[in-house]
Formats: sequence, structure tokens, C-alpha cells
Amino acid sequence: MKALVCERYNDPAAIRVREVDDPIAGAGHVVVDVRAAAVNFTDSLLARDMYQVSAPVPFIPGSEIAGVISEVGDGVDSFAVGDRVFGMAFVGGFAERITMPATALKSIPAGVDYAAAASFFVAFSTSYGALVYAGEVKPGETVVVLGAAGGVGLAAVQIATALGARVIAAASSDEKLVVCREEGAAETVDYSRESLKDRIKQLTDGRGADVVIDPVGGALSEAAFRATGWKGRFVVVGFASGEIAKIALNLPLLKGAEIRSFNIAPFATKEPQALAELERDALAMLADGRLRPRISERYPLGQAAEALIRIESRRAIGKLVVEP
Ligand SMILES: NC(=O)c1ccc[n+]([C@@H]2O[C@H](COP(=O)([O-])OP(=O)(O)OC[C@H]3O[C@@H](n4cnc5c(N)ncnc54)[C@H](OP(=O)(O)O)[C@@H]3O)[C@@H](O)[C@H]2O)c1
Repeated sequence: MKALVCERYNDPAAIRVREVDDPIAGAGHVVVDVRAAAVNFTDSLLARDMYQVSAPVPFIPGSEIAGVISEVGDGVDSFAVGDRVFGMAFVGGFAERITMPATALKSIPAGVDYAAAASFFVAFSTSYGALVYAGEVKPGETVVVLGAAGGVGLAAVQIATALGARVIAAASSDEKLVVCREEGAAETVDYSRESLKDRIKQLTDGRGADVVIDPVGGALSEAAFRATGWKGRFVVVGFASGEIAKIALNLPLLKGAEIRSFNIAPFATKEPQALAELERDALAMLADGRLRPRISERYPLGQAAEALIRIESRRAIGKLVVEP
């Protein structure tokens, strides 16, 4: 089969499509014919060996997929050949086929297409956990989302809106903020030309935000934290800017605010039951149409490396998918 292979770290020219062995379904596993694989920030970090854990080269990037089961291994009775499934892998998604444990897959709800299903788990489970579990968002509260047109950010805009919150979307261009409004944001801040802190204060009549979702980091983190209100909850999700902010601890002290976090990988290990409940609730919102991943670009396998570059260069809006 054909797959995108990363042969060396930190070298875009060494990520290319080549012929590799077909996967086989071992015990407890199935082979999925990949119809869509979402492109995630983590995929580009892995290709540069800058993620928290390494994928030994050569490896096939691609960490979440949707497709059709073409082979079932011994001991699997939850799925059959022909079933439409989706799920998260660590690597291996940018390929015509992938083998995965049956337990890592779920059935795609009726009416949801492969691209939307492939784009769901990483961005939407993370944002759902950040908003509901970590942020404890309540209807009517004000939620600020940084990097709001990115994969995690736009999912947070959609989910917070669906939960009845008032969303202030913050991003770096008009083009991105138009999309955030289309997905439910009530207000926007262009932090490439406006003061994030002053604008949030202005939009909340001086009270400050109830919750901040931060997948970006850097200088924006402190500016947004300073714009939280009494008992505000600041939720750390990621560092797309490449910089980790250091926040002085007098800031939370002054207003009873809390710095919280949501990180799906350790959460899955430490609190599998809580994650299963979060995913069940988020999936119900996908199934009934309240949530719909916004797919802005689709790439054939042969151009999948370009999708990784687009993510890194801050030009992606919503989700990009590779369709082998
Ligand atoms: N905690 C978790 O469980 C979890 C799960 C998934 C992802 N993450 C992390 O969350 C972060 C965002 O992931 P994502 O999938 O939303 O990525 P994404 O789709 O690429 O969005 C990231 C956003 O960050 C902003 N940004 C600011 N500086 C940037 C830079 N130097 N390069 C790229 N983007 C920059 C961009 O928005 P503007 O241009 O508008 O500033 C961009 O839209 C990543 O750090 C990822 O590793 C964490």
C-alpha cells in the first residue's frame, strides 16, 4: 500500500509517499481502509521530534482516522468487515490502510462523513474536556478562546456556544475571525492589532472573562489571564506558539482565579472512566448535529506533507484532512 513516511526528523524533504507492506489484523485488531485522516499539530511536532514522546523513524504520521473495516483479527466481535469506524492512533494514519486495536475505534454516527469523523476526537474531546471538565463552564458565562480558528480553538468555539456560553474568539486575522463568528462566536479580538487584555475587559464591561481556553501560550497567556474576572478559570491546553508562559502567582491571588489544565493523553490513562463519559457526551453532540468539525482543506496522500507545513506555518483554519 501507499503511505506517507517520515524518514528523518526535522527535514520536510524526507517526508514522502512510498510503498510499504500492507498491515495485517493481529489478535484483537482490525485493518481499516483509511478514507480520511485529520492533520494535527502533534503530527508536525512528531515529524520534528519536538513532541513529549518520540516516534522512532521511519514512521507514518497521522494520529486520527476514519474509514471502513476491511479485515478483522481473532477475538474481535465488536466490529465486522464493512463497518464505518473512527478513532485515534499515535501514528500510522496517513496511509491507505492502518491496523488498530478494536477497542480504539468507535462506530461513525449516521449522517457524519469520514472527514468530519476523522477530525473529531483530538480537537473536540480536548476542547470538551477543557471546557466542561477543567473549565466547568456554565450557560451564560463568558469564555475566551485563544487561537480560536485553529483545530482545538474552533472546536472550543462550537462547543462553548452549544453549551450556552458567550464566546469571545481571539485570533490573528480577520479571515480567521470571520470563521469564528460563523461557528458561533459572539465577539472577536484580533490580537495581531488589538490589546487582548483591554479588549476582553471592554467586551465584559470591566468584569473580565469567566473562562479562558489557551492552546497557544506565549505572551497571550498572561494577557488573557490578566483579563479573567473574579474566580476566573484559565485552562492551559497547549503551546502552539512554541513558548510556555510563566505567570506570577500574585495574579491568581488577587482575584481568586485558578490556573487549570486539560491534556487528553495523561487524562486517558489516569481517568479512563471520566474520559469515556466526556467522549460519550461530545459524541452525542456530533451525532445530533450540534457539533460539526469545519474542514477547510482536503489533501490527497501525495500532498499530505504540504498539510503538515500549512499547520506549522499558522495558515490552517479549522481542520485539514488527508484523503488517501
Ligand atoms: N492538551 C491536549 O490534550 C491537546 C490536544 C490537542 C492539541 N493540543 C495542543 O494544542 C495546540 C493547538 O493545537 P491545534 O490542533 O489547535 O493546532 P492548530 O490548528 O495549528 O491551531 C493553533 C493555533 O495557534 C495559533 N498560533 C500562534 N502562534 C503559532 C505558531 N507559531 N505556529 C502555529 N500556530 C500558532 C494559530 O492561531 P492565530 O494565528 O490566530 O494565533 C493557530 O490557529 C498545540 O500546541 C497542540 O499540541 C493539546
